[in-house]
Amino acid sequence: MRIILGVSGGIAAYKSVLLLRLLREAGHSVRVIPTAAALRFVGAATWEALSGEPASADVFDDVPGVPHVALGQGADLVVVAPATADLLSRAASGRADDLLTATLLTARCPVALAPAMHTEMWEHPATRTNVALLRERGVHIIEPASGRLTGADSGSGRLPEPADIAREALALIPSSSCAKSQDLAGKSVVVSAGGTREPIDPVRWIGNRSSGKQGIALAKTARTRGAHVTLVAANIEDAEGAADVVIPVETCLELRQAVRDAGAAADVIVMAAAVADFRPAMPAAVKIKKAQGPASIDLVENPDILAELIREPLRAGQVVVGFAAETGDETSEVLEYGRAKARRKGADLLAVNVVGEGLGFGTATNEIWLLNAVGEQVAHAAGSKREVADAIWDAVIAL
Ligand code: CTP
Repeated sequence: MRIILGVSGGIAAYKSVLLLRLLREAGHSVRVIPTAAALRFVGAATWEALSGEPASADVFDDVPGVPHVALGQGADLVVVAPATADLLSRAASGRADDLLTATLLTARCPVALAPAMHTEMWEHPATRTNVALLRERGVHIIEPASGRLTGADSGSGRLPEPADIAREALALIPSSSCAKSQDLAGKSVVVSAGGTREPIDPVRWIGNRSSGKQGIALAKTARTRGAHVTLVAANIEDAEGAADVVIPVETCLELRQAVRDAGAAADVIVMAAAVADFRPAMPAAVKIKKAQGPASIDLVENPDILAELIREPLRAGQVVVGFAAETGDETSEVLEYGRAKARRKGADLLAVNVVGEGLGFGTATNEIWLLNAVGEQVAHAAGSKREVADAIWDAVIAL
């Protein structure tokens, strides 16, 4: 999507730097149009570096490109944050005395304004009239939050948090123009994928058949739907580029550390990785020789990362999704194991799938049953790993 981020001259302009990042990370192209006053709070270099596009307040810059008309015409969404009392007044009276107000006049896409100012200004009848008029014309006003203002005072008029602005503004884009919409915009998710390798000696390990394909599909679909994605990739060759941040790991203990570090700020953690339950107690420092005879390997138990995330959540309100790969002779048997595991693990969602000969691992398709924390089925999905991933995100969003 093509988004215009207007920034007018209030101290809250600094918060729009984060808003810009969120919109960019959600995969949108963003052109920032500051007002001259906004540039006194945050300079053009910041907007240009983070958006990758020029950030001018002036209609006389790049005249051959006719920006005062072209930018508004080409936008899928215009969001102005912060919108000062002065900007609201100029927008309401149809002024076109800078690039931002000219753009507001030419835009035919959804327009969202996020007012931010002192309580007195917000409550003044002039501002109230301007807001009512703009609303009448179809402009979406994002209600200011209450709280600490510029100085020691507090009240209504504070700019809402960037993630909330992003969510509210992106929801205005008609779903027809936005495949699957950006329903994870502003969300941070961590996906673990692949299979751990627990070293026996420098050249051998205990591992499993997980290819990481379902986890990669989860990372890619979350990104398409607007999330900022960290992929903790256990021994996956083609993980590069599947997420905003890719952290390669090898063992359960490395995976645990990476998930805990990245997960501290995450809204959702999906444990799609096949993690070894045990590891060799004392990996040999040098290669074990055949002449040493058949080796027996002492194993110690690995921490159950998923169980830890549920027992002691890294963040309040965080959604945790687990996977249960089961072999079973019949679907009913697999589902029985799955239900028992869902109740035992207590994850918000548990994706149960059948694995074994030609099923699950390494294949392009998958079939899962999604169970809630008490073992009730909330969804069933079969198809490509991308389709299955989308079904999992749908269920996460429904939560
Ligand atoms: N998992 C984990 N840490 C481990 C083992 C597993 O976080 N040490 C996570 C996996 O990423 C997966 C879920 O737990 O999301 C289910 O793993 P599974 O091995 O099927 O569960 P177990 O409790 O080990 O049960 P089982 O007896 O079937 O092996």
